[in-house]
Amino acid sequence: MSAKIISGTQIAEQIRNEIKAEVSVMKERHGVVPGLVTILVGENPASVSYVKAKQAVAHKLGFNSIQDSQPEDISEDQLLALIEKYNQDPLVHGILVQLPLPRHIDEGKVLYAINPGKDVDGFHPVNVGKMVIGEPCFLPCTPYGILEMLIRSGVETSGAEVVVVGRSNIVGKPIANLLFQKREGGNATVTICHTRTRDMASHTLKADILIVAAGHPRVITADMVKEGAVVIDVGINRIGKTPEGKAILCGDVDFDGVKEKASAITPVPGGVGPMTITMLMKNTVQAAKQALSL
Ligand code: GUN
Repeated sequence: MSAKIISGTQIAEQIRNEIKAEVSVMKERHGVVPGLVTILVGENPASVSYVKAKQAVAHKLGFNSIQDSQPEDISEDQLLALIEKYNQDPLVHGILVQLPLPRHIDEGKVLYAINPGKDVDGFHPVNVGKMVIGEPCFLPCTPYGILEMLIRSGVETSGAEVVVVGRSNIVGKPIANLLFQKREGGNATVTICHTRTRDMASHTLKADILIVAAGHPRVITADMVKEGAVVIDVGINRIGKTPEGKAILCGDVDFDGVKEKASAITPVPGGVGPMTITMLMKNTVQAAKQALSL
């Protein structure tokens, strides 16, 4: 039987409606709307399209949204000064610097420079540390989105065997951490697989919930998935262009094969992607509320 499709687009829409309601209350009662600045350095096509999508959603939700595009050859000092300017700006509640950055800029230095109270990406080490010990903080948007998808789709994580494929700072490490914590959407037993894992399939075949953030198109095939597993595909791979010049996307999971074995699966596009953007908006509302001491 074919798997249930977990639609990130639909769940994201629900959450965006909740956010809209919060924004209109904030505006009415306090005369404030959430402010989000997205800083893009250079013209990496994937980054350009992600930032555009983030700005479009922020705009739709009635945020004060600022797109700050900087040339590829901006110096590290100039970028740090720009971040400091936004740190000091009371109309900006959230600051996002799109990654990756050009090689001459130290990514760590840039992430440290963002005020942790405006770090709506959840990448500042203060927020990462708070997340690990289970304190309130800004959660990184993709893992936060995956948690919301699992919770809102009624997937039981407590006691489940979860396998995460990928160990990046943005997805693999934080989602693994959140899933084993004592929290809603947590309490799972988690295994992390990576490029040095021996016999990947021996692990993935045990997963009740398989989360794939490998960064390679269709590396997880049906023979690697347990019958009835829930499969969350974090990958967004550009595998070509349509005659009209639009990117053709696929995930890290072989969707057509795996959907015949899984009980539920996220599509690409329309799965984790819209959730990531939505959780960025949720974090920005949270940052604005904190600035207003709400
Ligand atoms: N590059 C890829 N994913 C992300 C993300 O979630 N935030 C930022 N800032 N850069 C990214």
